[in-house]
Amino acid sequence: MRIDVIQGANLNLLGRREPAIYGAQTLEEIHSGLEDLGRQLSAGDEAVSLTFFQSNSEGALVDRVQACGEGVDAIIMNPGAYTHTSIALRDALLAVGLPAVEVHLSNPAARESFRHRSLIADVVRGSIVGLGAIGYQLALRALVAAHRARRAVEGPASPG
Ligand code: DQA
Repeated sequence: MRIDVIQGANLNLLGRREPAIYGAQTLEEIHSGLEDLGRQLSAGDEAVSLTFFQSNSEGALVDRVQACGEGVDAIIMNPGAYTHTSIALRDALLAVGLPAVEVHLSNPAARESFRHRSLIADVVRGSIVGLGAIGYQLALRALVAAHRARRAVEGPASPG
């Protein structure tokens, strides 16, 4: 199965951006931890392959979600501040219709009121917030488990 990890605005600065809120890990470190977990989850079962994308531009993020329609099984997404503003990202997730998990390093509900509303929370399978970088790992485990449970019921997707 293939999972695309889509990271939004300012997440390229992780590690030096407000570490008291977002933690000390860089985006590269978070992604390499996900790759390790993907390898563990692949053992003895269908391979889990991960692709990664980060952009500070809303349109580029929309393009990336749209492109997931081709060959991607699930999405892990932290849109950064676009979480609270982007109808376009919400519409893109609805358009591709793939299972997605929203991740936030911090707990937006415990922060400023403008962060309390997520425009994607009701169109994703679930949201993992406030647990730091481990939230991405939990999202990966959840999406792989859901995919495998679905496959056990439906059987493998037929080619073409
Ligand atoms: C964030 C929370 C957002 O409110 C903020 O704008 C971010 C990061 C998080 O991961 O905690 O850029 O998505």
